Amino acid sequence: MCGIVGYIGEKPVYDILINGLKKLEYRGYDSAGVMIYNNELLIKKSKGKVSNLENLFSNKKDKKGTIGIGHTRWATHGPPNQVNSHPHVSNSGEISLVHNGIIENYDSIKKILLKKGYTFSSDTDSEVLVNLIEDIKKSKKIKLGKAVYYALKQVVGAYAIVAFDSTNPKELVGARLGSPLAIGVGESEYYFGSDATPFLEFTKRCVYLNDNEMVIVNLKKGLTLREIKKDSIIDPYVQELKQDIEDVEKGGYEHFMLKEIFEQPQSITDTFRGRLISPDEKISISSLKRHYETFSSANRIIFISCGTSWHSSLLGEYFFEELLRIPVEVEYASEFRYRNPVINKGDIVIPISQSGETADTLAAIKMAKEKGAFLYGICNVVGSSIARETHTGVYTHAGSEIGVASTKAFSCQISLLLLMGLALGEKLGTIDKKRYQRILNELYELPKTIEKVLKSNSLIESISENYLEAANFLYLGRGYHFPIALEGALKLKEISYIHAEGYPAAEMKHGPIALIDENMPVVVIATKKGNYHKVVSNIMEIKARGGKIIAVVSEGDEEIEQLADHIIEIPNCDELIAPILANIPLQLLSYHIANKKGCDIDQPRNLAKSVTVE
Ligand code: M6R
Repeated sequence: MCGIVGYIGEKPVYDILINGLKKLEYRGYDSAGVMIYNNELLIKKSKGKVSNLENLFSNKKDKKGTIGIGHTRWATHGPPNQVNSHPHVSNSGEISLVHNGIIENYDSIKKILLKKGYTFSSDTDSEVLVNLIEDIKKSKKIKLGKAVYYALKQVVGAYAIVAFDSTNPKELVGARLGSPLAIGVGESEYYFGSDATPFLEFTKRCVYLNDNEMVIVNLKKGLTLREIKKDSIIDPYVQELKQDIEDVEKGGYEHFMLKEIFEQPQSITDTFRGRLISPDEKISISSLKRHYETFSSANRIIFISCGTSWHSSLLGEYFFEELLRIPVEVEYASEFRYRNPVINKGDIVIPISQSGETADTLAAIKMAKEKGAFLYGICNVVGSSIARETHTGVYTHAGSEIGVASTKAFSCQISLLLLMGLALGEKLGTIDKKRYQRILNELYELPKTIEKVLKSNSLIESISENYLEAANFLYLGRGYHFPIALEGALKLKEISYIHAEGYPAAEMKHGPIALIDENMPVVVIATKKGNYHKVVSNIMEIKARGGKIIAVVSEGDEEIEQLADHIIEIPNCDELIAPILANIPLQLLSYHIANKKGCDIDQPRNLAKSVTVE
């Protein structure tokens, strides 16, 4: 959701900004713009892709300059068009600003500025902010940094901003509250990014801003970090990043999503690294070890999350209740934060998030913390806000996930949840020893087993050919496969724009069965064990009504082979491992359908990778 880049130094800024914006495309956006300073401000903006913006730079002279800011906009206030795109410029033409987030009280500020004679050309809250900064700067006769500081004291909402003042062109000012901002520290040069990917190829030294912090980078004075609430200077913590630029490139695959699907064996290996060293050794998750006591005395565990991470949470509930015998609840963070949930001391709240920046999940964390819950976060992005706001937690280490549709991050989340469930179950004595060992053996082999599942790729691609015209899809699963049915449906919706619903298989007869006819493809997850025979009955009910059946089954299943239109086999395994495997064919099915329909797979319309506004 909105991407920010910036640079100040001695290198030509144009390529840094444009390539940086391209690296942030995965966040989702509908317009793009840059400001380049070369003794005067040059602003270019356009609706649509960054490539449209590049087309505006036919004149080489326009690309000159070594200071600039850039933005990809995901529309909130006002439609996606050239005028609403960022950077926004103050009335005097001196200050330019890029902003990610929402200024909730922009309307009242705008009214005051209108009375003072300010004019506005866009519908955005960001244009109000840049003029507020200008108004303060001029009336108090202060520099940009101080003016930003006073302006941010007045605004309510969320922001990451970078601002530039052409009357003092040696510095850039950034700030954050609720939306991410990273600063790359080079030799006499500084980079800005919504994350580190725009500057990873230039520097690995990075300062992640915390909420309520602002930064001034000045070519002479260096970097100054300030806490806005306390108005105090703080020492910046410069991290050495381990990420490589290859992590954020496609590596020969047509799309990031496909690359990430195929990376899953490696990602899960990374999730397990140091935690599951061998099936003969105890599971070692250091943050869990430190808090076994908290878990063993917990009254209740509450998972909070959104989207795909919510589906992980649901599977987490099934795993944890089975293995730990502790009551578990699963909440949409966006609902949880706005109701008045009962939270007591002794409750453990587990937020799950790939990005670690989802606004609703962050707000729900803050609320649960205030009510006295213990917060144990599960996150992918190292150093993200959710990682910092929780008491402790564990990283999934799935690696950078660029495709908007989450794939490897989900697989790592659910594999980690199962590993945690086993570790805790063993410690609490709530799991049978033989069962523990069997599942642990299978988890250890999981990366290799996933390699086998990925071999179905071409079969799944050929199955997908039959469903390019489908308008609807139904996904059914029972028990551990129900969250996977939900996730399969979400993946298809997100990238192919085909309407899809996930249902617990037995619920079909309570309504959705009315939808089934020869035009309704139904994806059924029907592996052996668990409720297999009941799901076979559901398949018969679909067949009797002419529905098309794509079944994910256990290797060697002959019964469903007779009933289904297409079968996709996964290796025989424990019923707790099966959902992790069954999900992979569903990812590939969505991918191939969307790809053959010509959809924009890595940047589906209207979607953002990290949803940093409500
Ligand atoms: O970064 P998070 O895991 O907190 O994101 C939550 C959802 O926005 C995310 O899972 C979304 O549903 C994805 N596009 C799913 O593919």
